[in-house]
Amino acid sequence: MGRKILLENIDKEGIERFDVYRKHGGYTALEKALKLTPDEVTEEVKKSGMRGRGGAGFPTGMKWSFLDKKSNNPRYLICNADESEPGTFKDRYLIEKLPHLLVEGLIISSYALGVNTCYIYVRGEFKYLIGILNKAICEANANKFLGKNILNTGYSLDIHVHSGAGAYICGEETAQIESLEGKRGNPRIKPPFPALKGLYDCPTVVNNVETLAAVVPIISMGGEEYAKIGTGRSTGTKLISASGHINRPGVYEIEMNISVEEFLMSDEYCGGMKNGKPLKAVIAGGSSVPILPAHLILKTANGENRMMTYESLADGGFATGTMLGSGGFIAYDEDSCIVRNTWNLTRFYHHESCGQCSPCREGTGWMERVLHRLENGEGRMHDIDLLTNISKNIEGNTICPLGDAAAWPVASAIRHFRDEFEFHVKNPGIVKNIKHGSLKKYTV
Ligand SMILES: Cc1cc2nc3c(=O)[nH]c(=O)nc-3n(C[C@H](O)[C@H](O)[C@H](O)COP(=O)(O)O)c2cc1C
Ligand code: SF4
Repeated sequence: MGRKILLENIDKEGIERFDVYRKHGGYTALEKALKLTPDEVTEEVKKSGMRGRGGAGFPTGMKWSFLDKKSNNPRYLICNADESEPGTFKDRYLIEKLPHLLVEGLIISSYALGVNTCYIYVRGEFKYLIGILNKAICEANANKFLGKNILNTGYSLDIHVHSGAGAYICGEETAQIESLEGKRGNPRIKPPFPALKGLYDCPTVVNNVETLAAVVPIISMGGEEYAKIGTGRSTGTKLISASGHINRPGVYEIEMNISVEEFLMSDEYCGGMKNGKPLKAVIAGGSSVPILPAHLILKTANGENRMMTYESLADGGFATGTMLGSGGFIAYDEDSCIVRNTWNLTRFYHHESCGQCSPCREGTGWMERVLHRLENGEGRMHDIDLLTNISKNIEGNTICPLGDAAAWPVASAIRHFRDEFEFHVKNPGIVKNIKHGSLKKYTV
């Protein structure tokens, strides 16, 4: 059994309540942290080597050390609970089951950053989480772990829960800041980065839910011990949202030292492919990362076992690799239609583009239209290169990474499954008739 440090107590009856959480060691990491200086807490997080769990994998301790401490303005911590990335559903699970773990992580992190006001930005559709979070915040307040003069240390913190309105782009940190300020969630041009000018133009850190929750075990066990879990620059454990054609979809905590094959086939995790069908492809880190065919997700181009780590998944760059991203693992069996899937994802990105940059605003819509005609048996052979061309012209040419996120799924699907796109052009009659049926039946 893999080691659990975030979800260790998830099955304890009533763990979402303060008294039960406390009985199982809750808030002892906070008590420990408050005996350290804020810089010492940051140092532990640095030593842990933990990389942000929101998608980009930026080292958390380093991000914290960029926060402008010289400014006389207040500093803010924003907990990013937007979680709109297709295929990713770990943060909502963590909040629902272990709200006090997050609240404790927020208090420790705010203390380390010298923050007295913290916001949790919750995706609009997660209404049910807002009550859960507010209850946990009230309980922590009532027990003097939050609010004014926490445990008589002189340190005070307020946590506010803010609901978004259901826009994917509000998960991007600067769009989230705009939205918190009451404006339309349009990403800002960076620099300046939020660490210098963030919420209300004040120094701000934005971190993912899982990142902030993981600060609790880091402080409990110490940064060095945490760094011993996992491999290389992928330290600690990671929550993976597993979905698609597998036997056991769900949220799993993995030590970052297991292979993709073990994750997929072991009964502890995905439990193998549904109905024993062969694996066709995997999106390993949420819909924004490149899709890989079965042979490349299981083994790197050098023939080594692909591991569930930041480095191993990225091995080979985008030619033969992908990214761990937010850990949204979607498995596709042999019957899946890659063209249909790519069209579906592109439809999502087109809908969610905020429209500020022309390559993203126009390019996502253009790709959607081309993919739609390919999927519906009305495509032309040169549409395939046209798609590659459009995606190349979006990538790297936009204000925020949503443009890249829209381009990579299309580019990678064509890179690895070009024959399937060509099949759609050559066989319009078949394609029109197999909207939800088995593509495999026709392609072999
Ligand atoms: C379009 C888009 C959507 C994003 N959505 C989320 C999200 O839902 N949750 C999240 O934590 N990060 C999301 N991010 C990443 C954030 O901008 C930011 O990098 C992250 O919250 C930082 O947290 P971390 O350092 O703990 O990973 C998104 C980025 C983009 C470009
Ligand atoms: S890349 Fe897309 S979502 Fe991001 S700022 Fe530009 S138009 Fe908006």
